[in-house]
Amino acid sequence: MTKSELPQGMALTALDEQFRKNPYPVLDNLRQHAPVHEDAELSRFVYTRHDDVKNILRDNALWSDPRKARPGSFTREFLGGNMDEEPSMLLMDEPDHKRLRRLVSKPFTPAAVERWRPAIREVVQRTLDQIEAEEFDLIDTFAGPIPTVVIAEMLGLDPADQGSFKSWSDTSVKIAFNPFPSESEQSEGEAAQQALVDFFDREIEARRNHLGEDLLSTMIRAEEDGDKLTKTEIISQCNLLLIAGNVTTTDLIGNGVKALLDNPEQLTLLRERPELIENAVEEMLRFDSPVTNSGRIANREVNFGGCPVHAGESLSTSLAAANHDPDVYPQPASFDITREDTHHQSFGGGRHLCLGAHLARIEAQEAILGLLAHFPILRLSDRGYVYASVPSFRGMSECWVATS
Ligand code: HEM
Repeated sequence: MTKSELPQGMALTALDEQFRKNPYPVLDNLRQHAPVHEDAELSRFVYTRHDDVKNILRDNALWSDPRKARPGSFTREFLGGNMDEEPSMLLMDEPDHKRLRRLVSKPFTPAAVERWRPAIREVVQRTLDQIEAEEFDLIDTFAGPIPTVVIAEMLGLDPADQGSFKSWSDTSVKIAFNPFPSESEQSEGEAAQQALVDFFDREIEARRNHLGEDLLSTMIRAEEDGDKLTKTEIISQCNLLLIAGNVTTTDLIGNGVKALLDNPEQLTLLRERPELIENAVEEMLRFDSPVTNSGRIANREVNFGGCPVHAGESLSTSLAAANHDPDVYPQPASFDITREDTHHQSFGGGRHLCLGAHLARIEAQEAILGLLAHFPILRLSDRGYVYASVPSFRGMSECWVATS
């Protein structure tokens, strides 16, 4: 295969119909023919081998701040946003990243998140109890609301505000990682982001005089070595939690349930042995990762996978391709909830390793077990499903299921 025949630019994003429907053959092809692929259209190097992806993400000397990327390169052009503003933690380098992460990480440790499990189970039950139809859209009715309601409860928000909160956060995520937003997506996304900023601003002020145990109070109170988060920082962290956590967890639940419905023997197995749920969710993360790409910026001339790349270039790591590398996973395209080695790259790695990983795991475990217990029969309905077209994310905007 010659260089010019390899997919470039949009063809490697969910904006392309073929990639959106099934990115794995495209990524397998790339891994086989050009494991370090120069995507000239988007000015980035795309890595598809498991070990290269893993090594890049764990190389803590590499940069994440788009302001350090070469002008014109992918990270600078598409993730840079407003270059005058401080980037979020995800796009921050040391020492700022370390400082922020220390101040917000305590509520996200596995032990701290585990304490939310009963509340998450209740949210799942409440959501299931509202489903009356025998045929429903799994995303709109179930996988979509759960993460937003959970994070709203964790932040201690008034249930009356949760409707607007969900719609602002859904709208703002549409532009957050989209290199090609339409004009209306861009303007609606910016308006929703502003609405969220104003909302959090009011919430923080209202909370200052009576702090509770919720996440917002924890961030206001958080202090390490005399250092505290400013109001702007708290707001930016709240935004990041929504942007990084909601659609991704919805997609994990949606993709996970779809994998079960596509593989009825695995569904039966999980119904018979619900204790497999932890392994099943890890396999769901490996098999169909909600985040398909992450990345870093070369801080020096680097050489991952045998290809020298100059400082300032964007290194785009395909998590989806890494998770399907046949050198690491036997029969990577088969979905097996008893697979012994389910480790995956879906939460990234190194110092930017997903802060919400354990929360997402618990939500998916509770949601999927709750759904199966509630509906003894569950199958894909003839109304079908539609994959969403948000680059770097993989999930469905609709997935119709039937319960009879
Ligand atoms: C299935 C659900 C999720 C997936 C697949 C996911 C995936 C990721 C990935 C790939 C990264 C970048 C890691 C890297 O480049 O090394 C990341 C970072 C992050 N995620 Fe998640 N995420 C999920 C859910 C959540 C949730 C629920 C939250 C919080 C409520 C969250 C908060 C964050 C934060 C704050 C970062 C930035 C961490 C840093 O830069 O230090 N994520 N996530």
